[in-house]
Amino acid sequence: MTKGKLIIIEAGDGSGKATQTRELCAHLEREGRRVHRVSFPDYASESSALVRMYLSGAFGGHADDVNPYAASAFFAVDRYASYRTTWKKWHDAGDIILADRYTTSNMVHQAVKIRGAREREAFLDWLYDFEFRKMGLPVPDAVVFLDMAPEVADRLIAARAAKTGAREDIHERDKEYLARCHAAYLALAEKYGWARIPCSEGGAPRPVAAIHEDVWRALAPVLGNQEETK
Ligand SMILES: Nc1ncnc2c1ncn2[C@@H]1O[C@H](COP(=O)(O)OP(=O)(O)OP(=O)(O)O)[C@@H](O)[C@H]1O
Ligand SMILES: [Mg+2]
Repeated sequence: MTKGKLIIIEAGDGSGKATQTRELCAHLEREGRRVHRVSFPDYASESSALVRMYLSGAFGGHADDVNPYAASAFFAVDRYASYRTTWKKWHDAGDIILADRYTTSNMVHQAVKIRGAREREAFLDWLYDFEFRKMGLPVPDAVVFLDMAPEVADRLIAARAAKTGAREDIHERDKEYLARCHAAYLALAEKYGWARIPCSEGGAPRPVAAIHEDVWRALAPVLGNQEETK
């Protein structure tokens, strides 16, 4: 049986990943496709314990304080647990898996801690080998990068925090780090051929439906979608 497709929705914090993953999932379901949503970190699972310690500052109050190899291992282990216990069977059965974040988040959020270009490349090679070859996680079939300007994402996070009372984690409260991540997203999207979807315009987010249409169109070659949206 051929394996299903693994599609990654990737972006900086507060850029609409959850929103767009839900939109895409609902659209595929309307088309009668077998589709599942997963998201990382898997906060509800024990497998994310080390990630939660890291994000709450247990290993250092700034992202840059924490060794990128160690931090990457925390996130990779969480993905492994989710794959083996939850979505491997769906993927093996040929279903579509939509992931809100994946190895691609480590490629950005951990790689930006490494300043030298050569060392950063070595880290990216190590990460690919570790997650996909050694741990055996599936390689994505497509990566969609939601390109939301960092200052717009920042306002979306603040608005959501005001509503839910959620506290910002060590990534979210470090604005310089988030700006560095955005620059890294642009560079990696170019390098690895991720589909870049513009999500803000003139300092404001584009409408959710308009972003979704672009995501849908970008994924048509991989998912075999009908061209028109409904
Ligand atoms: N295009 C948009 N226009 C206006 N508001 C949006 C848009 N996309 C998302 N939002 C809102 O912005 C907030 C962040 O969106 P969402 O939770 O989908 O982002 P995320 O990338 O999953 O965030 P995080 O990285 O924190 O998990 C939410 O409150 C969401 O409702
Ligand atoms: Mg989210």
